[in-house]
Amino acid sequence: MKIFVDTAEIDEIKEANSWGILDGVTTNPSLIKKAVEKRENIDVEEYVKDICKTVDGPVSLEVIGLTREEMVEQGELLYEKFNPVNGNVVVKIPINTNSPESSVGEYEGLKALKDLSSRGIPTNTTLIMKPEQALLAAKAGTQYVSPFAGRIDDYIRTRVGLTRGDDYPKSAYHDADWLRHASYLNLKSRYDELEGEELEKIYSDKAVAEVKDSISDDGIYSGSSAVSAINRIFSNYEFDTAVLAASLRNSRQVREVAEAGADVATIPFQVLEEMIGHYKTERGIVSFSEDVVEEYEAIFE
Ligand code: E4P
Repeated sequence: MKIFVDTAEIDEIKEANSWGILDGVTTNPSLIKKAVEKRENIDVEEYVKDICKTVDGPVSLEVIGLTREEMVEQGELLYEKFNPVNGNVVVKIPINTNSPESSVGEYEGLKALKDLSSRGIPTNTTLIMKPEQALLAAKAGTQYVSPFAGRIDDYIRTRVGLTRGDDYPKSAYHDADWLRHASYLNLKSRYDELEGEELEKIYSDKAVAEVKDSISDDGIYSGSSAVSAINRIFSNYEFDTAVLAASLRNSRQVREVAEAGADVATIPFQVLEEMIGHYKTERGIVSFSEDVVEEYEAIFE
């Protein structure tokens, strides 16, 4: 699995690169905003060029338009401006730019992907929240799809009444198995009296249907299960499109998307840091250091 760092913070990119594990970078307008707000009088164009120079691997830069024409024009511009720096620009296109706030139609993203790929410009399709979107993006010729694992988890927790910030921190692991089990136990207690032949009643019970519906998003129980489903679909049909797991919030989620077979995980810097530490590793190094005898030390002299 390739590792990208999910940041526009150049110091974090340089640091992760120095560890020898970095294969690329992903940015988005929110990450660029953070970097801009930290600096006075920043020349964003030069700053982005520095990012491209820093890493010898794909750097995703996102368009800001919502229509096909805007996105294609901006994608070409990003590619012309920044690809000559290190030959590593990938244009990020949202899968669907339609919303009640700006109804541009649901297919602008797909059309932009098709146009850019026919012009040889590599794309990363962003804001993927379900495998069906990933399938369409792959058909339109994208190089990467970015399922947003953390936001999918957030959405499922919203459906059971939990709010990020109030009920759990952004970094919290979403235990989909636990949620399914708890829901099962809760429902089971309601039906303990029923005999096998009455199972039909359970299946058609409105309360059961509501619980079943709330613990998943149309059958997707977690962000990592979405990544896994996309991976299976792409393998079934031998698509070349890479699965780039995004919106990762903690190291356990990175493990899950790696188990799910993601080609790439784009990881925030603080989650990369979280991946390295373990209490027993720390205790282990202390005891190895304490046990060094002179005789062994001598061979290093
Ligand atoms: C990267 O490609 C995505 O834009 C990013 O992972 C989104 O992460 P977030 O959900 O934490 O904002």
